[in-house]
Amino acid sequence: MCGVFGYIGNKTNIAPLVLEGLKSLEYRGYDSWGVAVVALNLQPEIKNKIYFKKRIGKIGGANVDSLPAGSLAIGHTRWATHGGVTRENAHPHLDCTESIALIHNGIVENYIDLKKELLAGNHVFKSETDTEVIVHLLEENSRKLSFEEAFLKTFNQLEGLNAIVAIDKKERVILAARKGSPLVIGFGKNEHFIASDPSALLPFTKDVYFLEDDQMAIIKDDSVKIININSAKEVKFLKQMLDWDVSSAEIGEFEHFMIKEIYDQPAVIHDIANNAIVGSDNILSLINEAEDIYLVGCGTASYACLVGKALFSKIAKKQVHAAIGSEFEDQLKFINKKSLIIALSQSGETIDLLEPVRKAQQKGAKILAFVNVLGSSLFRMADEKILIGAGLEKAVASTKAFIGKISHLLLLAYALDKRKSQGQRLLLEAVESIRIILQEKNLKNIKKLAHKISNEKDIFVIGRGLYFPASLEAALKIKEISYIHAEGVAAGELKHGPLALVEKDTPCIVLLPDDETTALTLANAMEMKARGGYIIGISSINHGVFDFYLPIANIGEASVLPMVVVSQLLAYYLTLEKKLDPDKPRNLAKSVTVR
Ligand code: G6P
Repeated sequence: MCGVFGYIGNKTNIAPLVLEGLKSLEYRGYDSWGVAVVALNLQPEIKNKIYFKKRIGKIGGANVDSLPAGSLAIGHTRWATHGGVTRENAHPHLDCTESIALIHNGIVENYIDLKKELLAGNHVFKSETDTEVIVHLLEENSRKLSFEEAFLKTFNQLEGLNAIVAIDKKERVILAARKGSPLVIGFGKNEHFIASDPSALLPFTKDVYFLEDDQMAIIKDDSVKIININSAKEVKFLKQMLDWDVSSAEIGEFEHFMIKEIYDQPAVIHDIANNAIVGSDNILSLINEAEDIYLVGCGTASYACLVGKALFSKIAKKQVHAAIGSEFEDQLKFINKKSLIIALSQSGETIDLLEPVRKAQQKGAKILAFVNVLGSSLFRMADEKILIGAGLEKAVASTKAFIGKISHLLLLAYALDKRKSQGQRLLLEAVESIRIILQEKNLKNIKKLAHKISNEKDIFVIGRGLYFPASLEAALKIKEISYIHAEGVAAGELKHGPLALVEKDTPCIVLLPDDETTALTLANAMEMKARGGYIIGISSINHGVFDFYLPIANIGEASVLPMVVVSQLLAYYLTLEKKLDPDKPRNLAKSVTVR
């Protein structure tokens, strides 16, 4: 969602640098953007003034050449919540005197009341956003207080989960505060950065500090001070080193990040098989001692939870619940000190997950997190954490983080059953199977299928047991990037509804494992075939019912990994057939930080 980038330091033409920072945040999803810079005093004809540029749509080939030189600037990519996608609604927002510029991520729940008061005080609003309320409130508070004091007071007057960053043309400082929405400070030599996401800092520095909830940062050229927003007292902080490779933020030889990330997957699984700590004694005892266990996540991560539930049941004979983050509130009444929450998240910032997990923790539950972003909110909140190790994931549609999550869960299930090495072996076999899928002749086959079905309006994907959540994930990948309606269906449920929609040539994808569910799933495939469905098998078995066959290796429960990879590739090539951008699907965001 909204991306934040700011700079203060010794570079003197930083509007283009801030624009570059925003570009590296594009993957989060946005619909408009803006940059504000304090002009350098060195240019008397320009005066000490805030200049800004705001535009709707993607940055694309746009530039900020019209902005003057400066060494203090902020920029923002907006994902519309309050108010439509217009230039006026884009951030930064300025106060009445155009002396303060402010950017914001989150939702100000009490903005209507605040706006009423400000309007009564003759403040003039130019946008429909809740953000603009903050900058006028800051202007109001600045009349009697210093910029820092006014900022602190303003932030404390906001209700809801918010991150704000502001500059004032008269002050050589960036002020930032967070509650809920993430902010991370980057440390350079005589320069500092602030961003909503550490990936934007990677080209400049790996030395970072993740601002905690209820903290405010006073960022100057050569110093950073952190204040607790409740006590207004300074707090000590420790910097962290980002462990991502700079190259993971680059697209390299690939056309899109999504296909690059699909290609990263064998290495991710290989690394998990060899190095993952999921089988460590404290993680196993955390699970074994819990009276009830909930796997919780959102979007793709929620399907990883369902896969995990099936793996725990099948391999470790352990019953766990699986829940969607935004629906988990209702389960909180069952949570107590003996509960364990296993929270799955690529970003570690998904608010629909963080909120219920925080509440479960307050009720005494232990939190075990599988998270991809070091230092993210979930990472810091969890009692035990396992880094997914997928590296930076930029495409909105998650691929390698999903594969990473289920690789960890498979290994964990085997470790719980004291058969960790068997889990490792299966993962290494999955690596080989996926490498084969990624060979040109197999890709050609998938592209051929994509070409054939790209004009269809519905696609059904069926699976049973462990492969039902895989069918949900396959359908999600297809619909979110190719915009073809796709539905994952528990194979046995077909005849309770979806079968009514299967007609001549409807593409029906069958996830067919070679296990105790094969016969029943095949029977369901036959039912679709009898209605004219075009049956596409992703399986190690080349069965006669299939009109189109996409082979994978038979590797026990790990078969789910290559099956998912084939469906990711199909989604990707369907999207290319439709001449759409797979990395940035409409209306969607990578990191969803509002509820
Ligand atoms: C968004 C993304 C999805 C992701 C979901 C959960 O919807 O577009 O790809 O699965 O958020 O994100 P998380 O970072 O918590 O895994």
